[in-house]
Amino acid sequence: MGIDVIREVALRAAKEAGAIIRQGLEQRRTIEYKGVKNIVTDVDRRSEEAIAALVGRELPGHSLVSEEGTRLLGDSGYRWLVDPLDGTTNYAHGYPCFSVSIGVEKDGELIFGVVYDPTLEELFTAERGGGAFLNGKRLRVSAVSRLSEALLATGFPPDVATAEENNLDHFADFIKRAQAVRRPGSAALDLCYVAVGRFDGFWELRLSPWDVAAGSLMVTEAGGRVTDLSGEPLRLSKPRIVASNGLIHDEMLRLLARRT
Ligand code: IPD
Ligand code: CA
Ligand code: CA
Repeated sequence: MGIDVIREVALRAAKEAGAIIRQGLEQRRTIEYKGVKNIVTDVDRRSEEAIAALVGRELPGHSLVSEEGTRLLGDSGYRWLVDPLDGTTNYAHGYPCFSVSIGVEKDGELIFGVVYDPTLEELFTAERGGGAFLNGKRLRVSAVSRLSEALLATGFPPDVATAEENNLDHFADFIKRAQAVRRPGSAALDLCYVAVGRFDGFWELRLSPWDVAAGSLMVTEAGGRVTDLSGEPLRLSKPRIVASNGLIHDEMLRLLARRT
């Protein structure tokens, strides 16, 4: 199977899902609670259905794992990791920071990623060994080399009020040391913003594979660095992620190590 077919299906899926998300903004959204602060809308589910239907139809034999529970099981070695709407809380409030995130693995290695922001119509793509792009323009991480001059992003898990590991201690450390820290609310976009140089670094402790699959490839293909909190390779099954332009990475790891 050539990468061209995968790219074509992934881009179609991201754009179809993006159209559903954009349309959904005009309508009343149904909100369900998965946990106290963890919500899902009817649009998350419709976006997921559209992506899974397309992949199932066009690429039989490909596996797929998507956040809201859809699974496809195939034996081709390809696996799609899908977040049909990353930034659901923002979406439910009409705050325009959300995305569709699709990463594709072959035999456990990420080979393709697409993240689509339907509000700004920004389409981020990355191909293993082939670079990262925003609407077709090649991406390069920033050149900021000191944490004190860096703009960072982070996020908190939905169970921040009760979880032992809530990231608030690291947040306090970074907000004192960095130039500034943002909490946008779509991890997939945060990673793309590192790739395009709008952010210099990003960390988050308790994400899921679909949050980071596409975005982490974006960062490495744009010349950045992605590790876990101790500088080891990222474990996609349980991502505790530090992503940066590479230049501030060790400084970020040292600060994180103070509390871990
Ligand atoms: C969430 C977003 C957010 C991150 C949370 C995620 P969702 O994903 O990526 O930025 O901080 O940890 O759960 O639920 O909107 O797909
Ligand atoms: Ca997500
Ligand atoms: Ca989601």
